[in-house]
Amino acid sequence: SKTSLAIRRIIRQVLLFFSMLSLSFVLGQVSYSIPEEMAKGSLIGNIAQDLGLDLKRLKTGKARLHVGNSAKYIELNKEKGVLLIKERMDREALCRQTTPCALHFQIILENPIEFYRVTVEITDINDNAPLFKMNNMLFEISESAVRGAKFVLEKAIDYDVGINGLKSYSLNPTDNFVLKLNNNAGGDKEVEMVLEKPLDREKQEKLTLTLTAVDGGEPQLSGTVQIHVTVLDANDNAPLFTQSTYEATTDIDHGTNGVVTYSISSNTEGILDLFEIHGASGEVRLIGKIDYETSKHYQLDVKARDQGGLTDSCKILFDIIDMNDNIPIIDLMSTTQSIPEDSTFQTVVAVMNVHDADSDNNGVVKCFLSDSEPFIIENTSNGFYSIRTNSDLDRERASEYNITVTCSDEGVPSLSSSVTLTLQISDVNDNAPVFERSSYEAYIVENNTPGLSIFTVKARDADWNQNARVSYILEDSSVNGVPVSSYVSVSADSGVIHAVRSFDYEQIKDFHFCVKAQDGGSPPLSSNVTVKILIQDQNDNPPQVLFPVQTGGSLVAEMVPRSADVGYLVTKVVAVDVDSGQNAWLSYKLQKATDRALFEVGLQNGEIRTIRQVTDKDAVKQRLTVIVEDNGQPSRSATVIVNVAVADSFPEVLSEFTDFTHDKEYNDNLTFYLVLALAVVSFLFITCLVVIISVKIYRWRQSRILYHSNLPVIPYYPPRYSDTLGTGTLQHVYNYEVCRTTDSRKSDCKFGLMFLQFHFLNSMGRCWLRRCSCGHDLKQILPYHVVISEKEKG
Ligand SMILES: *[C@@H]1O[C@H](CO)[C@@H](O)[C@H](O)[C@H]1NC(C)=O
Ligand SMILES: *[C@@H]1O[C@H](CO)[C@@H](O)[C@H](O)[C@H]1NC(C)=O
Ligand SMILES: *[C@@H]1O[C@H](CO)[C@@H](O)[C@H](O)[C@H]1NC(C)=O
Repeated sequence: SKTSLAIRRIIRQVLLFFSMLSLSFVLGQVSYSIPEEMAKGSLIGNIAQDLGLDLKRLKTGKARLHVGNSAKYIELNKEKGVLLIKERMDREALCRQTTPCALHFQIILENPIEFYRVTVEITDINDNAPLFKMNNMLFEISESAVRGAKFVLEKAIDYDVGINGLKSYSLNPTDNFVLKLNNNAGGDKEVEMVLEKPLDREKQEKLTLTLTAVDGGEPQLSGTVQIHVTVLDANDNAPLFTQSTYEATTDIDHGTNGVVTYSISSNTEGILDLFEIHGASGEVRLIGKIDYETSKHYQLDVKARDQGGLTDSCKILFDIIDMNDNIPIIDLMSTTQSIPEDSTFQTVVAVMNVHDADSDNNGVVKCFLSDSEPFIIENTSNGFYSIRTNSDLDRERASEYNITVTCSDEGVPSLSSSVTLTLQISDVNDNAPVFERSSYEAYIVENNTPGLSIFTVKARDADWNQNARVSYILEDSSVNGVPVSSYVSVSADSGVIHAVRSFDYEQIKDFHFCVKAQDGGSPPLSSNVTVKILIQDQNDNPPQVLFPVQTGGSLVAEMVPRSADVGYLVTKVVAVDVDSGQNAWLSYKLQKATDRALFEVGLQNGEIRTIRQVTDKDAVKQRLTVIVEDNGQPSRSATVIVNVAVADSFPEVLSEFTDFTHDKEYNDNLTFYLVLALAVVSFLFITCLVVIISVKIYRWRQSRILYHSNLPVIPYYPPRYSDTLGTGTLQHVYNYEVCRTTDSRKSDCKFGLMFLQFHFLNSMGRCWLRRCSCGHDLKQILPYHVVISEKEKG
């Protein structure tokens, strides 16, 4: 077809140069050249191939054309990566006489912003014939007109340019006139008809000539106009312009032949709307609005004509001086709504084109950002600016920027315009949750109900939305060999820590674990905190009496010689309380006594002393009930019965205590055994006294050796317990290892310790039972109080 032939005829000059300037976002430039009048849908060029772009990139980058006011002519087919004609283009309508005629536009890609410049030059085809504005030209010429008289003819217009433009004129017939073409300063041809052979009115009153204008196109096109000449009666002199200046002179003729009328003969469109000339005076006035941006020059062809029909012409050239009457136009070609806060340095945020229609300094534009940080504006190439990041962004510091670009020209006064673009900074998970405190400590009173909430840990995350959604996780660890999860649980959403079990202060006093706070980002970020739980004591344990041992048999009695003085230390009640603090602070009181006037109990130390001289009247057996109370709220107590024998000799005691047991109405068996036991004891007491003494000496020596063993010294003092003794203070704490042979009877374990006797002066010894060979391994080293009564001295 004709169009495809036309396309083949296209001289396609594809100038492709990639100017990969390191910081320039203008990545390339391509130029095409096409003839005008191509049909809709015709191919301009394969832009993807010529720019080296992937078709995928065109799609992902949402490739689009930024064409401004020529948008309707060209379209981009993203599927094929080609530029197509969208609407038939008429070079003459687009560019008039301007050459070359080109469309400049950009292909803009997003993510990241890139743009390519494209120039499509529209070449001329000979689609316009030369054209005369008027259908005919009328001349009235005096017969006396001399040879060489000039008559200005109207010029033809050919809208095409170059070789397709106007080429030449011809006149027919050439009996009287010849054609003269003057090349004048403006560059276009002045067409004049010059009289060659004088006219003779009597011979021919009217003449008709044909003026033909042809262009240089292929095929050649032409236009014609008829010239009608009326021959007038004689008139001698033609008016004459004083040179080709703006002011006309007078006609040297007098009378009507000397009256000159001026007129504008320009065929430039619209000129008559701008200028007028006073027909008689030749004064040229401006009547319309002139605009430097529309036309920098005007040419006025003025014709002077006298009544005799003689004419002359001159040309007035106007140079328009530019005024700063156009503000810079900011055209935002591509903007980004939002960029992530971890965007790299120098990320392009917007691309714009700034244009000022004025010339010279009035059109020199400088752009700047009113509040630059953290962006800069860069003049990347003539008229194109890019706004980039200049430093690192942080959504947590500023989540939104209003970037105001102001462009002003250098005219006086300067004109400026500005645009504001809003840029959102989107969140990236770059902040880990932070606990409000570096470590936590919480208290819980023992014997709590399981599931009780202890307290709350809280972590904050500076990020946004999902990236700031914190969940709490209990880190795996163990407490006393048990997973911490069996002690506490952490609520993932709220960070509330719950007790899973009931705590016992006597078993565990404190423990710690780790809680992790993790956000919902991808990948998530987390941080740890140590939580220490301190269990608080409750007074949940009554005091335990260690001595005197309550066997039920009550065979144990303290002996008080009748010769004992006031203040004689009978025995010492020793009790412990496994609670702590106030809850373990014990006090001793005498609750019941056979003779209240004889004994007293030390409130703090539990020492039972005589408070008066023992007399013969005092009963042998004395029974004291001591109550041991702790200081808790409410307080708990224990009672202990202390049997005291006021006697000088063992048989006396024995007889009394036999009754004692009768009194107590123990069963016959028990009585029998007790009597037997007492008999054995008395037997041992009497017969083996010497043996015992020697054994004691032996043991004492052995214990002195054991004293040097490497046992850890763990003295046990109930808090605020003052260990003061009336008759002496135990200055040292001794450790003894109590060892029994494996064949010892079980009861030895129970009682043996209590009857350990130490050869110390009347003071209290402490021993730690480390191992009992009866098969009971005591895991913990428990403190025992061992009391050596005064009577054992020696
Ligand atoms: C902008 O850049 C172009 C070329 O890169 C240069 O010719 C022009 O002078 C620059 N304009 C300003 C205002 O810096
Ligand atoms: C940006 O401008 C908008 C509209 O004027 C305003 O609501 C917003 O607060 C501004 N943001 C900043 C960060 O100044
Ligand atoms: C949290 O604690 C675990 C183990 O206790 C450790 O491996 C990890 O590095 C800690 N994480 C942070 C963020 O401190």
